[in-house]
Amino acid sequence: MENKLRSREWFGRKGKDGFIYRAWMKNQGIPDDEFRNKPVIGICNTWSELTPCNAHLRELSEAVKKGVWEAGGFPLEFPAISLGEPLMKPTAMLFRNLASMGVEECIRANPIDGVVLLCGCDKTTPSLVMGACSVDIPAIVVSGGAMLTGRYKGAGIGTSDLWRLNSDLKKGAISEEEMLAMESAMCRSQGHCAVMGTASSMACMVETLGLALPGNADIPAADSRRKVLAQVSGRRIVGLVHENMKMSDILTRQAFENAIMANAAIGGSTNFVIHLLAIAGRLNVPLTLSDFDDLSAGIPLLANLQPSGEFFMEDFFYAGGLQALLKELQEFLHLQLPTVNGKTIGENLGKAKSINKQVIASIDEPFNNSGALAILKGNLCEDGAVIKPSAASPHLLQHTGKALVFDNIEDYKERIDDPTLDVDETSVLVLKHVGLKGYPGMPEVGNMALPKKMLEKGVTDMVRISDGRMSGTGFGTVVLHVSPEAALGGNFSVVRTGDTISLDVPGRSLNVLLPAEELKERKEQLQKPKPVADRGYVNMFVQHVEQPHLGADLDFLKGGSGSEVSRDSH
Ligand code: FES
Repeated sequence: MENKLRSREWFGRKGKDGFIYRAWMKNQGIPDDEFRNKPVIGICNTWSELTPCNAHLRELSEAVKKGVWEAGGFPLEFPAISLGEPLMKPTAMLFRNLASMGVEECIRANPIDGVVLLCGCDKTTPSLVMGACSVDIPAIVVSGGAMLTGRYKGAGIGTSDLWRLNSDLKKGAISEEEMLAMESAMCRSQGHCAVMGTASSMACMVETLGLALPGNADIPAADSRRKVLAQVSGRRIVGLVHENMKMSDILTRQAFENAIMANAAIGGSTNFVIHLLAIAGRLNVPLTLSDFDDLSAGIPLLANLQPSGEFFMEDFFYAGGLQALLKELQEFLHLQLPTVNGKTIGENLGKAKSINKQVIASIDEPFNNSGALAILKGNLCEDGAVIKPSAASPHLLQHTGKALVFDNIEDYKERIDDPTLDVDETSVLVLKHVGLKGYPGMPEVGNMALPKKMLEKGVTDMVRISDGRMSGTGFGTVVLHVSPEAALGGNFSVVRTGDTISLDVPGRSLNVLLPAEELKERKEQLQKPKPVADRGYVNMFVQHVEQPHLGADLDFLKGGSGSEVSRDSH
């Protein structure tokens, strides 16, 4: 066993090298026996006061440490770049790959035998998992958990309400004062967004993949059982190191298939597509955009959670949580797959059961037959686009209308509320240059607010299309992730106001009704876009980022380099 621990290459050495590796560590008050053949467990923490969703992770880290010590391991906590969705500009997505690089290199460069990934807010989960996959040592994810449901005037309030409130404010249905009162009522506890947004989708994703203990997806951040889960995860990672159970042993193609099916049944985020593709890419597991459509087809929506439904993550937990939902879905899942607690997916489901069918519906009487994701193809998105039918308006899922094009976000902001804007409820709003290279970073602006004059008319939804993303908490008939993005000069970049666009979600198509010759001519006249950055990480990102249908990773980060350190300077 001694030779198997990579940390022995540091702490097990004699002479000058061992002295250096251990002596400086001892300035933290660490006794000698901690260095003697104990599995070293890294706790990769995305705690930050600038990432409010993860601001409680120091506490959870202490619980993980307790568990590691109990199981005979030696815990060492280290920071990762923390990506806070609410504050980071221009968008946290710009830095997902940067954070993943930091995680990968930190794990590999240090005496770490196994790692616990502490994350919560949207991008913190995929960045940590991506980085750890490229090293491929034993790992467990511990998510921070969702906030308690916000309360305002006796009713629940969560992030999805923000989009409605914004429309209400725009049309004068509520005052700034009321908005302020709701602002204080919404985020009333630690944790991430309280709906099935991207953070909750990511927490469900890691549990379904087998990378987290049962309960990780849904125990609220403020519930004491979240600390128990963290402590037990700490114990378990030591076991995984002894068993030499690496991430690649768990993350097989079938595990990714389970995650896709579960995401369909929970009404998960559209961002899930990009992140799962990127994670699969780090392990060279074959996964394509069409897999999401093929595997989601026939999976009904079982979770009645905002933004596709009515309830909050807290209700999901009380109703039985993800395990109860997976139990309903078991006929579709690969139940024999291993998970980090040493049991299979099927064994973990055990007696799990929905105790509130209003929140977690049965497979025989689903909440909605519309799936959470559909992948579109057509001449307007040659490499694909994504829509969330469960959060869209049924009457707009097949729609033909005239395009109203905004060339960039500034153009949109300037004109959207202009009283003279030539728009009606059949118009298709198109927003360009909010993609990975063009913005850069692909911000969550795809569910752009409707024109004020439409809101005043009582219109609540219109077809919207962009090369950007949408918050997992958002909703509407919103086509996202158009690939190739406008900055690459494909058909999407030459669509103009007045062109006719046809969306057919059941037929999985998105087209602009123009002859190929016309599109070709327009593309020939296109001018090369100006570079958006001339130095630093952003320059590297723009040069190397792949399109969303491939996972938006940097091309040179795909795959992994394993846990070996090739050179030894001491
Ligand atoms: Fe962090 Fe929503 S802002 S999870």
